[in-house]
Amino acid sequence: MRVFVPAETRVGERRVAILPQVVSKFAQLGLEVQVQAGAGSHAFASDADYVAAGATVVQSGDMAAALAGAEAVASVRPLEYSHAAAMRAGGVSVSFLSPAADIETVRGLRDAGATGLSFDLLPRISRAQSMDALTSQSLVTGYRAALIAADRLPCFFPLFMTAAGTIQPAKVLVLGAGVAGLQAIATAKRLGARVSAYDVRPASADEVRSMGATFVSLDLEQLAGAGGYAREMSDDRASRQRELLAPYVAAADVVITTASIPGREAPLLVTRSMVEAMSPGSVVVDLASESGGNVEGSIAGEEVRFGEVLVCGARDVASQMPVHASQLYSMNVFALLGLTVVEGSVVVDLQDEVLDGCAVVHNGEVRNEAARLALQEGA
Ligand code: NAI
Repeated sequence: MRVFVPAETRVGERRVAILPQVVSKFAQLGLEVQVQAGAGSHAFASDADYVAAGATVVQSGDMAAALAGAEAVASVRPLEYSHAAAMRAGGVSVSFLSPAADIETVRGLRDAGATGLSFDLLPRISRAQSMDALTSQSLVTGYRAALIAADRLPCFFPLFMTAAGTIQPAKVLVLGAGVAGLQAIATAKRLGARVSAYDVRPASADEVRSMGATFVSLDLEQLAGAGGYAREMSDDRASRQRELLAPYVAAADVVITTASIPGREAPLLVTRSMVEAMSPGSVVVDLASESGGNVEGSIAGEEVRFGEVLVCGARDVASQMPVHASQLYSMNVFALLGLTVVEGSVVVDLQDEVLDGCAVVHNGEVRNEAARLALQEGA
């Protein structure tokens, strides 16, 4: 049995689905790892490293045969149509497949009679924690967001008491205290900043306090939806939330926003006028800018200035740390594929709650409603 790792094709993507150091674990499952030449180069894994770890390397010209020969194909981003369509019937693709957005991948898997498992849809139950790539990659992005802010801020994060006088610590406000937000809090705390945070979910207050940060309580009803996720709020409530947050934003030297609603555009938490009310030199990092943005006017992959405040629109943040992001992702792939290996073959058993939850396409049948609708609309 073989798992094939194609080189990522999306511009800006530097991660690889399986790193050499994890190859031997796949061997324990009975899965031989095969990689496209150069697949690990952005994550500092050479073809020779893969060979030394026991994997085989195929040249790009032999891609079609490699895809057709593999029981499983592991990638970070969803496969492009031609790659998905070249898979064998019953082959299993694992990636961050967004059912409604990555419609060409869904079409390719359907045409091939293959199966597509998506980390985006993995049920967040205890048993699936080791497979939870959304969590592992959010850990990277949250950590990185705090470093970006510290790098761009023209001031120290920590308190300094020196012979020349005392420097007060930076005030960091984190909006959205999920996995990425909590990691941004932890990293900013380690750098010595004074950190506060806000989230709509009631459970987040204790989590924020347990990291040593102050929870910002607003006089608003709190919102929690299924699976611990936030749900969308009304326009009135969103606008009241912005009004109540405005003084906290104005008082912060750094604002890091991480709020998202699964499957929806990110909520607008900070308007341009709120940004302009911050002190000159302040920094805003919007981790949600690729999905619409939590900050009005933020642009993914760009730094823009509103007055004298810098707004950094995040893009491909996990790819800025491709080594550890790939290492964690490799372990997530290993754990998820581990569920599918039964007596020497790769079998997706939909009786398993985890596989049932994340199988967008199964043996060519499109199971996900959003994907089915998008296919019909695009037909
Ligand atoms: P996410 O990436 O969907 O959103 C980030 C954060 O933004 C969330 O905490 C959310 O409540 C918050 N948010 C959304 N709208 C907001 C608004 N208008 N204002 C302020 N904050 C807003 O969330 P993530 O990090 O994926 O975690 C979501 C939930 O899943 C959490 O409850 C987390 O504890 C839980 N979780 C459970 C896991 C498990 O059991 N295996 C693993 C990881 C997360």
